[in-house]
Amino acid sequence: MASFQLRKLVNFSVFVFLTAAMVVGEEPAHLCKRTDHGPVVPTTPLVIFLETIQETAYKTFGPLKFDPKFYVDLSLKFDLPIVKQAFTDLPRTVNGSVSVSDFNDFLTKFMNGAEADLDYVKPIDFVDKPEGFLPKVVHQGVRNWALEVHSLWKNLSRKVSDQVLEHPELHTLLPLKHPVIIPGSRFHEVYYWDSYWVIRGLIASKMYETAKGIIFNLIDLIDTYGYVLNGARAYYTNRSQPPLLSSMVIEVYKQTNDMDLVKKALPALIKEHKFWNSGVHNVTIKDAQGSTHNLSRYYAMWNRPRPESFTIDTETAINILNDCEKEKLYREIASTAETGWDFSTRWMKNTSDLTTLSTTMILPVDLNTFILKMELDISFLAKVVGESSHVLHFNEASKARKKAMDAIFWNEEKGQWFDYWLDPDSNHKDVYTWDAKFQNQDLFASNFIPLWVRFQDENLVKKVKQSLESSGLVHAAGIATSLTNSTQQWDFPNGWAPVQHMIVEGLVRSGSEEARLLAKDIAIRWIRTNYVTYKKLKVMHEKYDVSKCGEFGGGGEYVPQTGFGWSNGVVLAFLEEFGWPEDLDPHCQ
Ligand SMILES: *[C@@H]1O[C@H](CO)[C@@H](O)[C@H](O)[C@H]1NC(C)=O
Ligand SMILES: *[C@@H]1O[C@H](CO)[C@@H](O)[C@H](O)[C@H]1NC(C)=O
Ligand SMILES: *[C@@H]1O[C@H](CO)[C@@H](O)[C@H](O)[C@H]1NC(C)=O
Ligand SMILES: *[C@@H]1O[C@H](CO)[C@@H](O)[C@H](O)[C@H]1NC(C)=O
Ligand SMILES: *[C@@H]1O[C@H](CO)[C@@H](O)[C@H](O)[C@H]1NC(C)=O
Ligand SMILES: *[C@@H]1O[C@H](CO)[C@@H](O)[C@H](O)[C@H]1NC(C)=O
Ligand SMILES: *[C@@H]1O[C@H](CO)[C@@H](O)[C@H](O)[C@H]1NC(C)=O
Repeated sequence: MASFQLRKLVNFSVFVFLTAAMVVGEEPAHLCKRTDHGPVVPTTPLVIFLETIQETAYKTFGPLKFDPKFYVDLSLKFDLPIVKQAFTDLPRTVNGSVSVSDFNDFLTKFMNGAEADLDYVKPIDFVDKPEGFLPKVVHQGVRNWALEVHSLWKNLSRKVSDQVLEHPELHTLLPLKHPVIIPGSRFHEVYYWDSYWVIRGLIASKMYETAKGIIFNLIDLIDTYGYVLNGARAYYTNRSQPPLLSSMVIEVYKQTNDMDLVKKALPALIKEHKFWNSGVHNVTIKDAQGSTHNLSRYYAMWNRPRPESFTIDTETAINILNDCEKEKLYREIASTAETGWDFSTRWMKNTSDLTTLSTTMILPVDLNTFILKMELDISFLAKVVGESSHVLHFNEASKARKKAMDAIFWNEEKGQWFDYWLDPDSNHKDVYTWDAKFQNQDLFASNFIPLWVRFQDENLVKKVKQSLESSGLVHAAGIATSLTNSTQQWDFPNGWAPVQHMIVEGLVRSGSEEARLLAKDIAIRWIRTNYVTYKKLKVMHEKYDVSKCGEFGGGGEYVPQTGFGWSNGVVLAFLEEFGWPEDLDPHCQ
């Protein structure tokens, strides 16, 4: 309800702004701010060409079963100028479409399939029954299923083919050196934040070498780009994803004590920390007591339609005629993809209108939790290799961020951390001033993510636990993403593996027995829904409908995906933590 006021307020100020501009007869272009245009560097000629292929395919094949990403994943059989010429020479109808048979002939002659540049590869450390696998899983049915989920690492393991290394200019796939575990289905390249839960599962499967290979690939991306890309594609170069590389390094280090891994990772992590704390990602805000804080936000360096969803984004923006407003919306869409929560009412001023996405004007609770963890992790890893100046510096940085999160996000009365919406009226200023009315008090699972890192404070955990229990987010099959049934995929009734995992692990780490009981209860519901759905459909899903046990999720801009990296990882990590006794029925209750 408070956020309803917030939304009204925001809309009202936009209205006043528009009216004022119209009264003085200014060009609409004046609504553009400097940051709306830049910093964007056009992407590769190949991506731009594939966007035109995608648009033509849409006209030719129509919207039914159309996945725009498929077309930017194709690779070329010949050099770009040759393929381009052949494409230009195809006969067109008045609406610009090519006949289905001409188009299919062209694809066969000049393009390789969307998965042709990835080779299956059996992970070097995969064995059917790893020694010491899930020792606490006693129930035979659950154990057999867990072994099947474990075997899916083979299905999801890929290596970038030699063609890509030899001719990178013909591929949007980036040439990574080590094998990768992909999420699955249409996501057949490596993704940033997915990889954290993949690695948690690989650890349960004792596949440390595969986990390290994933980490080394991500470090290589930082060396090349200065940050980890959303995914390993030429069209993902201008945005990142929730930064969890430090968490991956810590988990694998704890299992292997591999000092070389830490030495290699540390400089990359420090570079990544800078990326998230400078330039467009850095926001300075003064709290109610007058102290200033630095916090981070998502902000894609992109203001065009996302290449992998070019036709969709163009359609979303179709009624926005002002170029500058269009650029702004495209940046908000790409920035929302950077959050990992694409899409959700969490980022929308008007929950039924995607063009009101305002992600760059929000200080997100979860992002700052991840960066706080990054700071603690870097400090820990620096200690491991004896770099004492970094130990100190990042320890100080983590203290400052904790303070900032307490001042800006924490709500004592509600026992939750709320996203903070920056006041659009003070957008021109360097320093924002905190105001209670700009905390978004809507219920999202992200309001509880700091539990994952703030486990040392027992009273706080108790309060947050009670708040979670009475929030309405905990359902038959796990934690819902929000309370709003919006048809967006990061909303009710969908539940996502990473969110279940962070909240459950936060409760467990608190050390409180009561918190552990709640954690276990949520984990059991989640495992059951994964188990029953798998038995029914023989696949692991990307997301689940938590309103009832045994149903996968829907909504959003693409059809439900299977495979699935992080779902497999979280099931294995939960079974490692809680086990499954002989007498506990894994079916829906
Ligand atoms: C374009 O024209 C073709 C053939 O004239 C037609 O089949 C197709 O439906 C049209 N596509 C659109 C998007 O109007
Ligand atoms: C966007 O990505 C391209 C690589 O495709 C890079 O050259 C450019 O610097 C990036 N822009 C920013 C602001 O990082
Ligand atoms: C963050 O922004 C504030 C205000 O513009 C500025 O004073 C500060 O130096 C910036 N911090 C970094 C690390 O860039
Ligand atoms: C915010 O960042 C600036 C630049 O790095 C730094 O000088 C300042 O001390 C920071 N403020 C806080 C409260 O950490
Ligand atoms: C929100 O968006 C919907 C759909 O575009 C529209 O009908 C409604 O009037 C909007 N509400 C507000 C408060 O602007
Ligand atoms: C969510 O809304 C859709 C209609 O938009 C409806 O079909 C569905 O049953 C609702 N889901 C739940 C769990 O309420
Ligand atoms: C995994 O791969 C095996 C062997 O190729 C296949 O039989 C099985 O159907 C695959 N499982 C899934 C869920 O794709």
